Amino acid sequence: MTERFSFSLHATDGRARTGTISTPRGEIRTPAFMPVGTAATVKAMLPESVRATGADVLLGNTYHLMLRPTAERIARLGGLHAFMNWERPILTDSGGFQVMSLAELRKLTEEGVTFRSHIDGSRHMLTPERSMEIQQLLGSDIVMCFDECPALPAEHDRIAESMRLSMRWAQRSRDAFGDRPGHALFGIQQGGDKEDLRGESAEALRAIGFDGYAVGGLAVGEGQEVMFRVLDYAPDMLPEDKPRYLMGVGKPDDIVGAVKRGIDMMDCVLPSRSGRTGQAFTRRGVVNIKNARHQEDPRPLDEHCSCPACRSYSRAYLHHVFRSQEIISSMLLTWHNLHYFQELMQGMRDAIAAGRFADWETDFHAQRAEGDI
Ligand code: GUN
Ligand code: ZN
Repeated sequence: MTERFSFSLHATDGRARTGTISTPRGEIRTPAFMPVGTAATVKAMLPESVRATGADVLLGNTYHLMLRPTAERIARLGGLHAFMNWERPILTDSGGFQVMSLAELRKLTEEGVTFRSHIDGSRHMLTPERSMEIQQLLGSDIVMCFDECPALPAEHDRIAESMRLSMRWAQRSRDAFGDRPGHALFGIQQGGDKEDLRGESAEALRAIGFDGYAVGGLAVGEGQEVMFRVLDYAPDMLPEDKPRYLMGVGKPDDIVGAVKRGIDMMDCVLPSRSGRTGQAFTRRGVVNIKNARHQEDPRPLDEHCSCPACRSYSRAYLHHVFRSQEIISSMLLTWHNLHYFQELMQGMRDAIAAGRFADWETDFHAQRAEGDI
């Protein structure tokens, strides 16, 4: 087991890349999809089940954990890995983005952001320094810089001002993080849908120097066409020899399009959240299990899927437990969805390694075009 954080590229195919991130807590195969474990759990899943779907790394959230049960309590209990029984790598988001979408009475200054908890209304402050401290208390393996990002569409001036604040916070995050062998700090590129600002942000981050680089500020209301237009240039502005992480993305076709454009890591609540609302992702698109057409269907969700939901249960059963609001409904559909997302990543890793990503992508879209049943 390596004691350092490192990234090695194994193969490229067009702009798509496959490689391995090595950490003291294990390897992360890229392109990687990170299930979201916001509140120290991937909802409805045991950690060993999440691992069984093929996940190498989980995402945790500074914002939620600082409010409840607090980072200090988790540290006293041995850190987030021990607390949630996940010994492999954990990446934590830094909190700023979640404050802006979830907290109340937010106030943004050069120093940081003050806000009231969405849970009990208590007052808190997050700064780059406090975010680094919290992520260290949690024991996060991959720490994200403290940043800020506007919803799109937004004016050039507004995006520029916000991006430059995030770049000053990136320097403060770097200074506060210090030198922690085996732990990585990732910078976050901002700049919205403006190419000049993405370039300026990339330059600022490269000058500071990070272990990896995220593309932030996307999937914030701009739509897939605008997102892909940004991804046509944004990842190439970041160092080639470091992991590139697209934050908060996305649907299966978003993920495929992002990998095609040079992205190595992604995270999204979609597979887990959709599992709880009765939506299943399959090779042939989305299946809504609450639909009456499944009520007496003896077939599995996807006959080619080897997950527990597809191996042992019919669509009729999944429909019944969803309609009855049984807990097993969330468990089975979340497992299936996470399994589907991880198979998607494995398919892309294999295709890139074999130099046949373009054919793989054609197949991916053709199967979806056929539709369910
Ligand atoms: N999650 C999705 N987008 C972002 C972003 O721009 N910054 C952070 N910190 N988290 C995100
Ligand atoms: Zn399945």
